[in-house]
Amino acid sequence: MKAIILKEFGSADNLQVVEVPTPEEIAENEVLIQVKAFSVNPLDAHVREIPEWWKLVSGSDVTEPYVILGWDVAGIVTKTGKNVTKFKEGDAVYGLINFLGRGNAYAEYVAAPESHLALKPENISFEAAASATMAAQTAWVSLVHYGNIKKGDKVVITGASGGVGHYAVQIAKSFGAYVVAVSSGENKDWVLSLGADEYVDYKTQHFEEIVKDADLVHDAVWRADESHLSRSLIAIKPGGTLLSLMVFPSPEFITAAKEQQNITVVRANLSDTPDKQGDIEAINALLSSGKIKSHVSGVFSMDEISKAHHQIETHSTVGKIVVTV
Ligand SMILES: NC(=O)c1ccc[n+]([C@@H]2O[C@H](COP(=O)([O-])OP(=O)(O)OC[C@H]3O[C@@H](n4cnc5c(N)ncnc54)[C@H](OP(=O)(O)O)[C@@H]3O)[C@@H](O)[C@H]2O)c1
Repeated sequence: MKAIILKEFGSADNLQVVEVPTPEEIAENEVLIQVKAFSVNPLDAHVREIPEWWKLVSGSDVTEPYVILGWDVAGIVTKTGKNVTKFKEGDAVYGLINFLGRGNAYAEYVAAPESHLALKPENISFEAAASATMAAQTAWVSLVHYGNIKKGDKVVITGASGGVGHYAVQIAKSFGAYVVAVSSGENKDWVLSLGADEYVDYKTQHFEEIVKDADLVHDAVWRADESHLSRSLIAIKPGGTLLSLMVFPSPEFITAAKEQQNITVVRANLSDTPDKQGDIEAINALLSSGKIKSHVSGVFSMDEISKAHHQIETHSTVGKIVVTV
């Protein structure tokens, strides 16, 4: 089969399309998937570049001549392990597979545990399904499990035009929240069309000067340090919560926010969900009912993988980008 391999950590140009053996053995709880599409996340570029991140995410050192990246997959089941009950050959499935761990999704075939997958709703494409995986589950885990979002909450979503953010806007609306979306002005009409009630262009306005009474801020902006988190503390009312998707806030920052303002600050981690199966089912129901939709702004071929990685490294991708196989 064709797969995209990484022999050396480093730039996007290190990714190569080559022939590798198709997985033959699958575990009793796994299915083999003929991949139709996989999506690309900022994390993919991060682990491609930094070996320590690969180790953190995959849970192991590299002992083979190469690794295969990718966790977000959609495709057709071609084989089932003997304990598989949910799926049969020919089913169209999608999911975030083996995360944390080794996903191996950048390939024509990949094996995955059935518990990581859902049946693809008929009303959406493989590209849309492959998109609604890591990014959608992150938004769900952050808002629902860490944020305890409820009807009527005022929720500020930064990075609203990105992969995670565009699902976060739609998920928050599905709970009946009042959503203030923050992105750059060129995406204004589209972000409002996702259901946001209010819009802030971060290039010309400061959201914390406009909002002072948020219950939640869901912060999905790529930043290396916590300095910008302080801005969210101005926008949140006492008793509210700051959900940090990127920055790891220090214990001092967390304690000061609690003691001085009664604001809870958390690093929302996708992998820390108490109910992965429930998350998958909830997102699947929202996709099936059309309450959330994937916005796929770029479709690449396997040969264009470097281009896809260069795009995700801009940190200003609109919605999701996918690779079709
Ligand atoms: N904690 C977790 O478990 C977890 C899981 C997945 C992802 N993440 C993190 O979540 C973040 C978002 O991921 P993603 O897939 O959504 O990335 P993405 O697709 O690259 O989207 C990032 C978005 O942020 C917007 N943006 C950039 N600077 C901004 C600012 N100052 N204010 C408001 N919006 C701004 C960009 O819009 P413009 O073009 O308009 O600037 C872009 O749409 C990343 O940092 C990622 O590493 C965390």
